[in-house]
Amino acid sequence: MAARRSRIRGVGSHVPERVVTNEELTQWMDTSDEWIRQRSGIETRHWVDGATSTSDLALEASHRALRAAGIEAGDLDMIVLGTLSPDHDFPGTACYLQAKLGVPGIAAIDVRQQCTGFLYALSIADQFIRSGHSQRILVVGAEVHSKSMDISTEGRDISVLFGDGAGAVILEGCDLRDPATDPHILSTHLHADGNFAEALCMKAPQTAVEGPRITHEMIDAKEHYPQMNGKLVFLHASKRMPESVHEACEANEIEVGEVDLFLFHQANLRINQQVAKQLGVDDSKVFNTVQRFGNTTAATIPLGMHEAIKAGVLKPGMLVMLSAFGSGFTWGSALLRY
Ligand code: UT7
Repeated sequence: MAARRSRIRGVGSHVPERVVTNEELTQWMDTSDEWIRQRSGIETRHWVDGATSTSDLALEASHRALRAAGIEAGDLDMIVLGTLSPDHDFPGTACYLQAKLGVPGIAAIDVRQQCTGFLYALSIADQFIRSGHSQRILVVGAEVHSKSMDISTEGRDISVLFGDGAGAVILEGCDLRDPATDPHILSTHLHADGNFAEALCMKAPQTAVEGPRITHEMIDAKEHYPQMNGKLVFLHASKRMPESVHEACEANEIEVGEVDLFLFHQANLRINQQVAKQLGVDDSKVFNTVQRFGNTTAATIPLGMHEAIKAGVLKPGMLVMLSAFGSGFTWGSALLRY
């Protein structure tokens, strides 16, 4: 009997129109185009205007993924959405997206695993399909960072790095006949180490205090903005991402060199260059978008996937490795035949 697997049927993405250059950032903080490019490779990022929310960006990306898949929102049986910048604390942003798509009734799950959010979402969706529970799942990564960053000099180590955007894939059940050629998700590998939770986090609102979750004092102390130990994150990302790529290769008994394309999380061009070097992979096999979009956290991988398709880099039949690392710490990988 053919094994039940999931495959990517359609991919879409969306970034807001407004482009913010490195030069523009210098009006709010003491930074420079040279510093940002040298340290991160980032040249521009997109920021939303007005009342645009995370679920608004997710909606546009989802419509595009549905169109690419040639199906309607009514054909979906679940939504799994990764974000660290939800529309509201609760309910989950997947619920808002579900309502905007006009498909009440289907399951809607939020995943809160930051930069690894899309990989966690993809893995969850893959398990639901493998088990036979679901047939067509919308998997989304979406973020609006521009509304929750300190854009003064004090917050410059973080605020120059992040951008807004969304990416979505339609994951569909399939009966695997030839594992060597049929498009499908081969495996997913997820990890976390909560001992490093405070190396990259946003403290407020919080319940780990006496009294209300958010106070004027917390805001004065800028605890409602993210804080990061950049060097520590860099160090761990450069170690964990290659490790997770090797894990996926070993699980599927393939060599790293057999992978056609690497779609890594987009936090910093220097991290991805280091990861490629450690893996012995030529930079030409790594598709980077951080230069244009900055770090869009849970959105980087599906956004990159869509850009790679549009650029003609990602083609049917390719063996594709996804890998990410981020706050939590969380990290992981996924191997798929596109
Ligand atoms: O998805 C996971 C999310 N995060 C990451 O992956 C981030 C990982 N870390 C990094 O990418 C890097 O650590 C950064 C790009 C954040 C920083 O690069 P770095 O080479 O580690 O710089 P640093 O933090 O050691 O800072 C060097 C200097 C400092 O000044 P002093 O103390 O040497 O005088 C900073 O104050 O650069 C200063 N600096 C800046 N200068 C201009 C920090 N941010 C900026 C800035 N513009 N935006």
